[in-house]
Amino acid sequence: MDNTILVTGGAGFIGSNFVLDWLALDQGSDSIINLDKLTYAGNLQNLASLEGNPRHIFVRGDIGDAALVAKLLTEHQPRAIVNFAAESHVDRSIHGPAEFIETNIVGTFQLLEATRSYWNGLNEESKGAFRFLHVSTDEVYGSLSPTDPAFTETKQYEPNSPYSASKAASDHLVRAYHHTYGLPVLTTNCSNNYGPYHFPEKLIPLVIHNALAGKPLPIYGDGQQVRDWLYVKDHASAIRRVLESGKVGEAYNVGGWNEKPNLDVVHTLCAILDELSPRSDGKSYAEQITYVTDRPGHDRRYAIDATKINRDLGWKPAETFETGIRKTVQWYLDNQEWVQNIASGAYKDWVDKHYEKVG
Ligand code: NAD
Ligand code: TYD
Repeated sequence: MDNTILVTGGAGFIGSNFVLDWLALDQGSDSIINLDKLTYAGNLQNLASLEGNPRHIFVRGDIGDAALVAKLLTEHQPRAIVNFAAESHVDRSIHGPAEFIETNIVGTFQLLEATRSYWNGLNEESKGAFRFLHVSTDEVYGSLSPTDPAFTETKQYEPNSPYSASKAASDHLVRAYHHTYGLPVLTTNCSNNYGPYHFPEKLIPLVIHNALAGKPLPIYGDGQQVRDWLYVKDHASAIRRVLESGKVGEAYNVGGWNEKPNLDVVHTLCAILDELSPRSDGKSYAEQITYVTDRPGHDRRYAIDATKINRDLGWKPAETFETGIRKTVQWYLDNQEWVQNIASGAYKDWVDKHYEKVG
């Protein structure tokens, strides 16, 4: 096997942060093959700083395209696969679940099949060293009441949205490929991420974008739903750690120990924006907060118990919510062009101009 890893979904929010950090931090010579379908959520501008970098090869394609994946595996002989590719937005899954079933379930299945076939053909040493790391979410565990303990890895799966149900199905397939075929898999279940390159349909980037654009800041229901927030670069470091030292066949919960009600998050964002980029009328951005109809089946609370990854692998986040959220707001203020290109759809034209579909 070569010193190569295959990353899927590496033009999305978390995947692109992972790829950028990997190539910036890695002391060795691992290259990355980045397979991404470039759905609305994939944005090659996230990877613009890698243009001309021989250690990054971008391939536009679908994880469900078994022939393409088989070709990439044979050609590049990766020592690991990190699977980020997914449809990831709960609200979209409520309006149109079909794509979620197609990519998150069928796509993961096709990727596992191609991986199994490739892995079976490796020599014993390479087989032992190979890893398939599946990136999943805490949403598979369902919703907690205010007094329930945080999710541990043994918590029963109780997914409530088409998104979380499709991720749960993919987690089960990954687990089954280990138990049935011996494929050396690892799974991470992480809480809500935030940070640079976050698509402005999710709460934090949407609020920053709308605040600066003078638009309403929509709060679903009473705004008291609780999420555990993790800075995206801490998620990337957790994945690197699990890939390096995780026990094959196991799942690791990844979280920031930062449970916050949505309304608190939005008030924090408004306060930082009031300080860093005040409104011209001197009023607070909090004036733009607007209560809107709740999301159907809205999960009330998620909380991650990250004891296992801390105890067994020595991982802990570098950022607190306070430091991470300030960096995030500053990043959006410094990268308004990136946001404008998404808002106007210009990022798609850029993609079409610069890349051809491979496969
Ligand atoms: P994202 O929507 O920003 O990015 C997904 C990427 O996958 C995009 O670049 C998209 O083009 C690509 N993609 C979609 N379908 C594909 C397909 N069939 N083949 C190849 N590429 C495809 O998502 P994200 O927030 O970066 O999430 C990445 C992964 O992490 C997902 O698996 C998600 O379930 C998981 N996760 C996300 C969070 C979070 O807070 N965002 C938290 C925990 C886990
Ligand atoms: P989101 O960022 O979509 O992540 P997830 O649904 O995967 O947790 O939403 C985070 C929380 O914020 C969730 O409880 C829904 C809520 N929310 C709003 O109140 N208003 C919004 O405009 C959005 C996008 C989300």
